[in-house]
Amino acid sequence: MPLTIRDATSDDENMLLAFLTGIQEAERALHPSRRPASEIVSIYLGNLQQRGADILIAQDGAQAVGFACGRLDNDDDPLLKAEWREHGWISDLYVAEERRAEGVSQLLLGAIAERLRGKGAKRLRICALAANVPAIRAYKAFGFSELEIVFDAPL
Ligand SMILES: CC(C)(COP(=O)(O)OP(=O)(O)OC[C@H]1O[C@@H](n2cnc3c(N)ncnc32)[C@H](O)[C@@H]1OP(=O)(O)O)[C@@H](O)C(=O)NCCC(=O)NCCS
Repeated sequence: MPLTIRDATSDDENMLLAFLTGIQEAERALHPSRRPASEIVSIYLGNLQQRGADILIAQDGAQAVGFACGRLDNDDDPLLKAEWREHGWISDLYVAEERRAEGVSQLLLGAIAERLRGKGAKRLRICALAANVPAIRAYKAFGFSELEIVFDAPL
């Protein structure tokens, strides 16, 4: 059965919490900065909903296999040209473990990109931990290239 994309509804809350837990725990395994998912995902989901973010779900029959979330955003860096400040921000992308490396992320990225384009976005941004190889590969496969690299050092 071909995958379809649909908007999340209030009935999807538990599934979205499970997916957000999947993202947070995947990132926590890659970097010590991340809080345990149980402390933060329900607050985080509330914030996404409050900001009016679009949440799209990839569906295979009765099974949800991933989601992407995005909204319009504006970089407040005055050094940037206006056309580089306004962008569609893809805050979250998740594909169920058993459905990875099939290109589901590409379908989700395409769908959220179209949604944000429809709302006026002319550019897109997305982030990944430097150690998140599958995410970086998925983003590059979609057409993203690096814009800035954030460095961190303990003092
Ligand atoms: C990142 C993620 C969304 C990619 O989803 P996906 O549907 O598997 O993406 P794709 O099918 O396009 O595969 C992406 C690339 O990663 C590769 N890949 C898949 N699993 C991998 C792994 N465990 N290690 C290294 N590379 C991997 C794929 O081969 C593919 O690379 P290629 O196109 O060069 O062959 C998915 O891995 C995921 O949900 N991860 C956990 C959450 C997360 O990190 N989200 C991103 C930050 S919000």
